[in-house]
Amino acid sequence: MRKIVIAGNWKMYKTNSEALQLANQIKINTTAIKKAGIIICPPFTALATVNEVIKDSPIGLGAQDVYWEKEGAFTSCISPGMVRSTGATYVIIGHSERRQYFGETDETVNKKVNAALDNGLKPIVCVGETLDQREENITDKVVTKQIKGGLAGLTEEQMKSVIIAYEPVWAIGTGKTATPDQAQDVHAMIRQLLAELFGNLTAENTVIQYGGSVKPDNANDLLSQKDIDGALVGGACLKVDSFSDIIHTAEKLL
Ligand code: PGA
Repeated sequence: MRKIVIAGNWKMYKTNSEALQLANQIKINTTAIKKAGIIICPPFTALATVNEVIKDSPIGLGAQDVYWEKEGAFTSCISPGMVRSTGATYVIIGHSERRQYFGETDETVNKKVNAALDNGLKPIVCVGETLDQREENITDKVVTKQIKGGLAGLTEEQMKSVIIAYEPVWAIGTGKTATPDQAQDVHAMIRQLLAELFGNLTAENTVIQYGGSVKPDNANDLLSQKDIDGALVGGACLKVDSFSDIIHTAEKLL
C-alpha cells in the first residue's frame, strides 16, 4: 500500500526564530504519528535552523526550489548540493507560483528534477491547470504535458524518489478546493499516464499528492480517495493546529 505523505509548503513565510518555533511545535504535536509521512518545506534561510530541530525525528525537510547548476556565477541561485548541506532531502519543483511569476517551464522543471535526483534530493514535482484551462476542458492535456515534460528521460529507478503534487492553480490560496471527485479524476489520469511512461509498478508506487486549499475540514474526504496519497499544504501548514490536524487525519486513514 502507498503511504500518505503530508507536506507543508511554507512559501515566503517565517523568519528564523518563527521557523524554529513552528518546527518545534510540529515535532511535539506529531510524536504519535507512526505511519503517515511528514515533510516541511521552510524558506531556504530557515532550512539549517529547522533541521537542527527535526533531525532526530521522522519529519522530512525540503526546500521550495533549486537551481540545476552545481555552482557558478548565478546570483541568488541555490544549488542541489547547497540544499543537501542544510540537511534537507526533498525539494518542491515547478510550483505554480514559480511557473506563474518566475518563468518556470516544463524544460526548467526537468533540468531541476534531474539535478535534484543526481544529488540525492527527492523532488516533489507540481503540476496543475489554471481556471481558464479547466473551463476549456483541457485539464488532462495540460497536466499530461507538464508530466511528460517535467519527468522526461527519467528512469523507473529514479521515479522511486519522485513525488507528484497535483495542484489546480485555481484552488491554490483561494479557499476553493477541487471536489474529491474532481481531484480523484485527475489523480487517476496521472497514474494511468505514469503506467504508460514508466510501467505499472511505478504507477502503483508513486505518491501523488493533492494541493490547493487543503484544510482540516476537507482533508479526510480528499485523502480517502483511491488515488490521492497525500497533500501539499500551503496556508494551513503555517499554524501548528491545522497542520497537525491534517497529519492526524492522514494517520487515521492508514
Ligand atoms: P494552499 O497552497 O494550501 O494555501 O492553497 C497550496 C500550495 O501552494 O502548495
